Amino acid sequence: MKSTKILKSYNELSSTVANIVEEQITKNPLTKLALPTGSTPLGLYDELVKRKLDWSLVITFNLDVYLMNVKHPQSYQTYMRKNLFEKTNIYPDHSHFPFRPFSAFEDKIEKSMGIDLCILGIGSNGHIAFNEPGSSFDSRTRVVELSEQTIEDNSRFFDSIDDVPKQAITMGLGTIMESKKIVLMVNGDHKLNILNVAMNGEVTEDVPASILQNHENVEVYYCE
Ligand code: F6R
Repeated sequence: MKSTKILKSYNELSSTVANIVEEQITKNPLTKLALPTGSTPLGLYDELVKRKLDWSLVITFNLDVYLMNVKHPQSYQTYMRKNLFEKTNIYPDHSHFPFRPFSAFEDKIEKSMGIDLCILGIGSNGHIAFNEPGSSFDSRTRVVELSEQTIEDNSRFFDSIDDVPKQAITMGLGTIMESKKIVLMVNGDHKLNILNVAMNGEVTEDVPASILQNHENVEVYYCE
């Protein structure tokens, strides 16, 4: 069972996780990070940008991308560019999104000696990255069908639910679990129930985030 640190506000959630990222990058300028998108990490990225850290040697791997035009305003490539990459001194060649062939993406992670710090959010159905309920605990980077729940949840970012992509490429649960350290960020009481099920319930592929109970170095931060 993992203990969850409860924070007083979204600002505190963002600055607490920014402290962890800052400490990691300062300790090891060659850090490899795995990064999420969505609404939860927006405050974290704002905070990291304000801190003007040196990203020149940092390498990033995004957790997932929609299967869509990368130039679309809601693509995760656009999101990362706007919210982090173009506001830091990270080298364009150092930021990676899951790509085909997936074995080459996985090789890239492995050859860079693995992910030092993986930041995650959680979906209302317990997904992490886009590993939807039923994903194998051994899964690697691959194309997935998004669940009805995820499509509905993410329709808030699009003009209409019909515009939400139905497929994505996600890092697998097996890939994520090889990270040396994992930080799960959870924002909002609508996520409290699934967080409790994931952290204190049965470890099962029906609740992908429950796999985190098996990782030795996970920190979970929640704010209402
Ligand atoms: C996105 C990702 C997803 C989100 C999750 C929560 O890159 O990895 O698992 O973290 O869907 O999204 P928000 O933060 O929008 O509630």
